[in-house]
Amino acid sequence: MTTEENPVVTVSSKQGLAGTRVCVMGLGYIGLPTASILANKGYQVWGVDVRPDVVETINRGQIHIEEPDLDILVRSAVNSGQLKAGVEPRKADVFIICVPTPINADHSPDLSYVETAAKTIRPFVERGNLVILESTSPPFTTEKTVLPLGIPEGLVPGSDVFVAHCPERVLPGRILLEAVQNDRVVGGITPACAQRAKAFYETFVNGHVLATSATAAEVTKLVENSYRDVNIAFANELSILCDEFDLDVWEIISLANRHPRVNILSPGPGVGGHCISVDPWFLVHAAPERTRLIRTAREVNDSKPHVVVEQIARLAQQFASPRIGCLGLTYKANVDDLRESPSLEIVRELRERKVGEILACDPYVSPKRFNEFPLHPLTEVVSRSQVLVLLTDHRQFRDIPHRVLQEKVVVDTRGVWR
Ligand SMILES: NC(=O)c1ccc[n+]([C@@H]2O[C@H](COP(=O)([O-])OP(=O)(O)OC[C@H]3O[C@@H](n4cnc5c(N)ncnc54)[C@H](O)[C@@H]3O)[C@@H](O)[C@H]2O)c1
Repeated sequence: MTTEENPVVTVSSKQGLAGTRVCVMGLGYIGLPTASILANKGYQVWGVDVRPDVVETINRGQIHIEEPDLDILVRSAVNSGQLKAGVEPRKADVFIICVPTPINADHSPDLSYVETAAKTIRPFVERGNLVILESTSPPFTTEKTVLPLGIPEGLVPGSDVFVAHCPERVLPGRILLEAVQNDRVVGGITPACAQRAKAFYETFVNGHVLATSATAAEVTKLVENSYRDVNIAFANELSILCDEFDLDVWEIISLANRHPRVNILSPGPGVGGHCISVDPWFLVHAAPERTRLIRTAREVNDSKPHVVVEQIARLAQQFASPRIGCLGLTYKANVDDLRESPSLEIVRELRERKVGEILACDPYVSPKRFNEFPLHPLTEVVSRSQVLVLLTDHRQFRDIPHRVLQEKVVVDTRGVWR
């Protein structure tokens, strides 16, 4: 195999490789930062999204999601001609699949996006190509879904074509930094696939790139998020327990954490986002009899929004016509991401149960894109509410003066107003 046919194999510099074509499938929170980082490294990037509006926005050098500095990076990549987008894939040296991997209502994995993306690239995949699944996926997805659906018959993985899984570990709000700084696990269908993927990531990742098998990489990612979920569930269970005893959970945790080998995480209104609230189910579904703790943690975290609603409803009873201010809808602070958000779930449930007049506010959620119910300015919510609930700890809410809070009945699910 010559280097002309197969340019990625020779990549060793950190500068990327001008002339190497990368096709990124899915231009969301993961795909768009990845595409623009690669384009700014010198790769010739063709981004693909099934949404024409997303493609048009990106081709104008603009972005459709909120992520610090992403607008600058995308503008620079598009202006330099290194990043272009379309609704169909093109021939490339490297294909990266970054499509959603949600769960169904019964918590089973929905692999339909991965299946469609794999089938869509198949006519474009050629000898020497590297195909990477970045989407967080259940065990065996790379081997049993991407390989048979995405790779043309006759091409042998590990010699003709290279197939790998490289899960993302980035934190929304720090994606551009972490996509480059974090250590990465790359798992190949064969050791040669892993080495090929490792060489590719080493052109733009400053962290260590650790090679393993595709299934080990899939499970490693799921284990990471299950670890977070289980530990948050412990904190959430403590918060429910402390309420029962009329104790301040934040005080208990900060005292317990003075033990040299204890490090309890923070409780909250539940667990949201596209990752931690979803990924553990992939493990539970793959081995239900072997994942009792992981399942229970999921159930504890999923129950927490209802516990918070009960607490608010109880406190609101003291007012004839309660006005309840709900601060924050997104699943975490200082981002615009509403996916699986427990804060949003709490506001929905309060509205459904008609607990009172609900005044919701989220400075990161544009009323242009969110029309499920009205949003109000922070000053109005604070001045009109009798019960003030902190759901998402956006920086704007942290500075509400104590004297203002003292006039309200306060539910602080994040412990920031203590
Ligand atoms: N967002 C995160 O912080 C994060 C972190 C780690 C891992 N992940 C994982 O990365 C994957 C992608 O997540 P995301 O947050 O970027 O999702 P996203 O919803 O923001 O973006 C996915 C994009 O893919 C597009 N798409 C769907 N089907 C397609 C197809 N067949 N071809 C081309 N485009 C298609 C969608 O229109 C969308 O724009 C998921 O598996 C997720 O679990 C996400």
